[in-house]
Amino acid sequence: MLPKRLRSFIEDADIPLSLADAQTPDMPLVLVNAAFERLTGYLSEEVVGQNCRFLQGNTDQPEARSEVRALLSGRADGQVVLKNYRKNGERFDNLLFLFPIEIGGKLAYFLGSQFEATGEDTLSDSAARGGYLKAHLATLQTDTRILKAQTRRTTSESIAIAARTLVTLSTTRGAR
Ligand SMILES: Cc1cc2nc3c(=O)[nH]c(=O)nc-3n(C[C@H](O)[C@H](O)[C@H](O)COP(=O)(O)O)c2cc1C
Repeated sequence: MLPKRLRSFIEDADIPLSLADAQTPDMPLVLVNAAFERLTGYLSEEVVGQNCRFLQGNTDQPEARSEVRALLSGRADGQVVLKNYRKNGERFDNLLFLFPIEIGGKLAYFLGSQFEATGEDTLSDSAARGGYLKAHLATLQTDTRILKAQTRRTTSESIAIAARTLVTLSTTRGAR
């Protein structure tokens, strides 16, 4: 059962959020919010039940995917940049934040936040996103007691990862 507070946190957020069931094989999405729908062009009913990799289309990005798999299997939070496509076929660089969520001491969900890295976005935008999510997950954790959002890295470490990711992204861009 999806805790009510987690559901309303996701539904009420104005940044894209997506929740995948970590206990079901291939981690299907169980909830996405309106901001996710606006970013990707897909409606909730079109994506719930599917693994979120459909946003990658036919791209070949084994390194980014294995970084994601490492976070998921390590039950760790972190960020990965993925090439994604909106429903209308338009490509975008997705700086994906992932956070494991434990309920009653067991890994229950992964929360994802999709951040469009357009090039105009500054590092502080993405760092602010990471900080915002961590702070809210911590609040949910203390508020509910049943919900334990495990964040194994400190916020500053997480921001450092976001920084490295964006530097990589801009280097890649420059080389193109
Ligand atoms: C909550 C959650 C949200 C995700 N959101 C995205 C996303 O927006 N775009 C994307 O390309 N992959 C996303 N993924 C990652 C893919 O679902 C998948 O885990 C990744 O492609 C690595 O696995 P694979 O190599 O089996 O495809 C998300 C994963 C989770 C758990």
